[in-house]
Amino acid sequence: MKHFVSMKNLSEHEILQLIKLSEEFRQNEIHPFDKQLFAANLFFEPSTRTKVSFTVAQRKLGLEVLDFSSDISSVTKGESIYDTARTFESVGASLLVVRHPEDNIVQQLSEELSIPVINAGDGKGEHPTQSLLDLITIHQEYQKFNGLKVAIVGDIKHSRVARSNAYALTTLGAKVFLSSKPDWQDETLPFPYIEIDEAVEQCDVVMLLRIQHERHQGQAMMTSEDYLQRYGLTIEREKRMKQNAIIMHPAPVNRGVEIDDSLVECDRSRIFKQMTNGVTARMAVMYRLIQDGGIAHANDFSQRNAVNSR
Ligand code: CP
Repeated sequence: MKHFVSMKNLSEHEILQLIKLSEEFRQNEIHPFDKQLFAANLFFEPSTRTKVSFTVAQRKLGLEVLDFSSDISSVTKGESIYDTARTFESVGASLLVVRHPEDNIVQQLSEELSIPVINAGDGKGEHPTQSLLDLITIHQEYQKFNGLKVAIVGDIKHSRVARSNAYALTTLGAKVFLSSKPDWQDETLPFPYIEIDEAVEQCDVVMLLRIQHERHQGQAMMTSEDYLQRYGLTIEREKRMKQNAIIMHPAPVNRGVEIDDSLVECDRSRIFKQMTNGVTARMAVMYRLIQDGGIAHANDFSQRNAVNSR
């Protein structure tokens, strides 16, 4: 792997290898790189969990973290994303993590740079590391994907999480259903739409999405209570879910809108577990890119761990 910008073109084998690597990181406290390497986090759009979990993952891998705030950088003087990224590459960054409001811009950047680029969310495009942590969470629950029914519910049209997960889950053999308010359906996604009531009764995973107000360009919105009752996960709908079915949400959550407030931390909810899995998911991606790119050759961490535990 040279970059990590999309789930769409990853094979089943590549995704399963990353899930396995993430599990190995979960089981071991290791710093595999013994060479000084710098990782830069270029966030041109707000983030809490993606940015902080990349930072934790980088520190756990022994990487030096180069932080960046677009509002106090030369972006305010008109510098382009390409020139910003080239600057970090020129001063010695070994890897870039990029979030940007424009679709496909991270993919384009990856084609222009010689160091690995990771997509931390591009507009309505993709959010591949979110998808990987979601897959890890599902795998921890069911130890398989084949035959699982997964409903992705909410603002499909404006969601990069929906796109990455729908493609990756299909690659892994799960059956993906979408459920959305009619004007938030995305007909470019080749997956069947079902009503939320059908989704809760039939699916093993009910994955809710945040309403992406920032991408609605002033569209009128129904009240929170109306949205929850018509399209969201209410207490009554949760009661109709399959016995072992789980609730997921990439967060941040609009409590009481996409999901009833009291369900966010209920027994079925894996929402905070997803965040925890974000650290090892991102460690696995960065580790693979650094190794595959020949940037550093990590010690074999199972051997190293064996040495540490002697
Ligand atoms: N899920 C997610 O991407 O959250 P942040 O926007 O807080 O990074």
